[in-house]
Amino acid sequence: MPGLFPKWTNALPTVTAAMAMGGAVTAVAGVWYYFTPKYWEAGYMPQQPGSGFNHQIHAGKLGIDCRYCHTKVEQSPEANVPNVATCMGCHTENRLSTEFVKDEKVQFIRDAYATDESIEWRRVHKLPDYVRNFPHHVHIHAGVSCYSCHGQIMGMPEVFQAEPLSMGWCLDCHRDPGKHLVEPDQVTRLREVEQELTARRHHEGTMDVDALVEALRTAPPETCGACHH
Ligand code: HEC
Ligand code: HEC
Ligand code: HEC
Ligand code: HEC
Ligand code: HEC
Repeated sequence: MPGLFPKWTNALPTVTAAMAMGGAVTAVAGVWYYFTPKYWEAGYMPQQPGSGFNHQIHAGKLGIDCRYCHTKVEQSPEANVPNVATCMGCHTENRLSTEFVKDEKVQFIRDAYATDESIEWRRVHKLPDYVRNFPHHVHIHAGVSCYSCHGQIMGMPEVFQAEPLSMGWCLDCHRDPGKHLVEPDQVTRLREVEQELTARRHHEGTMDVDALVEALRTAPPETCGACHH
């Protein structure tokens, strides 16, 4: 019986399906929008407590090795941030003459130590929870410098996120790590590493990359399960 159902109803299932889909997509997008934390982006630089901590002075000018404070970076997945006692090793009342350090700038360290409280440093680099525990130690032993992932920390009065830390960024290196590798015992010498990796981009590097790749035999994973639960 033509005419009972007007022609346009033929399109109805598709339309409702499309509307339902649209609704579902909107709902998913909404949930995604509201429940996915906004992860930090390149350039992210939170305000640190007290007078903050200056890597340009401590790691750059004074030349203190990263591992003096980030003690676990070679042995564990996580790179720790130092506790107040590490700072107090130098910043006790008589240890450094006030000629070098203005007392009021380091008072927040002494106050925290005296009251047995920790300094609540604001996290700068953070991967989403659906990414597995990021393994620092593996990268360090494979000859990937802090410089490749954190930028020139020795020149930063305040740490900011220098790299995107996106999946594409991880995979770019995993597919072709050679051009980023240095001798594993050089990874914390960020100035030398920056010089070498910059020169390498102009084919003027001094390290034998092929020999390095051969010796290190790194095999960075590209399978989803390596980085996701
Ligand atoms: C004297 C101690 C000390 C030394 C030496 C030191 N750091 Fe730090 N580092 C800190 C403290 C304290 C923080 C937390 C405050 C901040 O983020 O500025 C920190 C934070 C960081 C962060 C940011 C962590 C985050 O929240 O995501 C990175 C990356 C970092 N350091 C890398 C390095 C590298 C690379 C070196 C060596 C070139 C180095 N540090 C040397 C004490 C130190
Ligand atoms: C190995 C010794 C040493 C350690 C460990 C150390 N410092 Fe220092 N710090 C110094 C020296 C030396 C200066 C003065 C350098 C200068 O002014 O050139 C200084 C300066 C400072 C200043 C003043 C910087 C400014 O802006 O003028 C602050 C704040 C500070 N340190 C915080 C910290 C904190 C926080 C820690 C622990 C995470 C720490 N320091 C660990 C040696 C150290
Ligand atoms: C291959 C890249 C890569 C290398 C190499 C690397 N890091 Fe990281 N680092 C990261 C990522 C990614 C994070 C965030 C990890 C997370 O959220 O689980 C991070 C986080 C950190 C943090 C913050 C830890 C915290 O709990 O607050 C510190 C400190 C740090 N790195 C220091 C270093 C130092 C020092 C070196 C060199 C000795 C280094 N990193 C080498 C990628 C790297
Ligand atoms: C600049 C180079 C570089 C970047 C950037 C990098 N990686 Fe890697 N990664 C490597 C190399 C090289 C290895 C191989 C180590 C080996 O085979 O010994 C590796 C290995 C790994 C492994 C395997 C660990 C194991 O136990 O074998 C994981 C997981 C990993 N990376 C995660 C990440 C994630 C997540 C990111 C991004 C946030 C990232 N990597 C960024 C170079 C990099
Ligand atoms: C070397 C580590 C690594 C591997 C391998 C990897 N991922 Fe990821 N993935 C990440 C990181 C890191 C993020 C977080 C990116 C961000 O915060 O922007 C991510 C994010 C994602 C997201 C969230 C959406 C997005 O793009 O930001 C999806 C979905 C995803 N990965 C799927 C996969 C699948 C499927 C595979 C296998 C084909 C895979 N990943 C392999 C590191 C990896």
